[in-house]
Amino acid sequence: MKQSAESGSRASFSGRIGYVLAVAGSAIGLGNIWRFPYLVAKYGGGIFLLIYLVLTLTFGYTMIVSETALGRMTKRGPSGAFQAFDHSPLGKLGGWINAVIPMLIVPYYSVIGGWVLKYLVACFADGIDTLAQDDYFSAFLADSPQVVLYFVLFSVLVFAVILAGVRRGIEQISKVVMPVMLVLAVIVAVYSCTRPGALAGIAYFLVPNFRNFSLMTFAAAMGQMFYSLSIAMGILYTYGSYLKSDVDIEKSTGELEFFDTGVAVLAGLMIIPSVFSFFGGDIGKLHAGPSLTFITLPAVFASMPGGTFAAATFFLLFLLAALTSAISLLETSVNTFEDGLHISRGKASLIMAVIMAAVGLSSSLGFGVWSSVKLLGMDILDFFDFLTNSVMMPIAALATCLLILRKVGFAAIEAEVGQSSPFRRRPLYRFCLKYLAPVCLVIILASSIASALGLITM
Ligand code: PFF
Repeated sequence: MKQSAESGSRASFSGRIGYVLAVAGSAIGLGNIWRFPYLVAKYGGGIFLLIYLVLTLTFGYTMIVSETALGRMTKRGPSGAFQAFDHSPLGKLGGWINAVIPMLIVPYYSVIGGWVLKYLVACFADGIDTLAQDDYFSAFLADSPQVVLYFVLFSVLVFAVILAGVRRGIEQISKVVMPVMLVLAVIVAVYSCTRPGALAGIAYFLVPNFRNFSLMTFAAAMGQMFYSLSIAMGILYTYGSYLKSDVDIEKSTGELEFFDTGVAVLAGLMIIPSVFSFFGGDIGKLHAGPSLTFITLPAVFASMPGGTFAAATFFLLFLLAALTSAISLLETSVNTFEDGLHISRGKASLIMAVIMAAVGLSSSLGFGVWSSVKLLGMDILDFFDFLTNSVMMPIAALATCLLILRKVGFAAIEAEVGQSSPFRRRPLYRFCLKYLAPVCLVIILASSIASALGLITM
């Protein structure tokens, strides 16, 4: 372990605030600002929000506490933590899958980070009216050299922070970026909610209407909670391993959930009321899916007074959110190589640079010069997103549940969490880990695979 300069034998966060800001920086990302609003819009508004909140406070809470406690207990990232308890091939597989997920995600996540960077630059260079043209997004994606250029620029920013280390890099940037991000989010949300006709959009988003409920609402809310809280991608193990033993895991988990859900709700308030207002309350327009942020939203901004400023503020906030999440994905990946191969941070970063180049470049080109290449009928980027989020992550989380139930035991987790203060939600934790989480995970896995095979539409 070569992080000794920072604190003893393993790098660490300076305290709870530094840790919570870094882990919230990881959780708050594309998932909150891009994915959450279009899913709420599509799957029933307030009812989706309600289910999402309940799942976050139960299933999500359980997974966060479990991964963080396992990381801190073993002082290892995911694969080391699994190996500490389970030497069987199943244990190896569980550790391996948790460790590989962020390595496969960070390249394509950085490609999307590059799109956001491009949109921020374009607000100034091309102006919001150009950005709002229908074919702007598709023309950009087809322009492979540009997509690659912005992917590389975004990746360079991420590597720069990683090479600066845990405390000097990740913690410092999170402490500066997170408050700025919150202020920007509030500004854009207030702006959007004060558009004429926005009130109906706010009501659609916040007031649950049980007639909008469907099984898909439940499956989509569950998948989103997973994605948004950075569960099952090794991150919470790794950040937990940098956590000092006097930090209250329960309290910091509550704070993480508060920040992550708060920004998702703010993103909903930024997007849904303004789209509602722009289209005169036409709910159908909210069903645009992934293109809501990159195509619909610029058109909405272009129609508003001060639209360029609002758009630039929004894309800056979006960029910062994507950046801090990509940092956590890369940190986890780099740490796996450092610990597993006993090599320096620099060498581990070099290995990740090669993986980033291979997966990221192919994902970038998949919309342009390689657009004829399809994997299971999907574009290359969509394929990596499907493979990690829909298949590998539910399996990785199931592996964590089984590790605790079969090898680690509740007592050890409870002792780890109870070090700084009594474990207050212990009964809830036990129930969720044993029953709720495994059932939810099987539902997520089954529904997303069925949807990819075209058996159901999500
Ligand atoms: N939780 C972060 C987000 O919501 O964007 C980070 C992340 C989630 C990265 C899911 C990648 C991913 F597949």
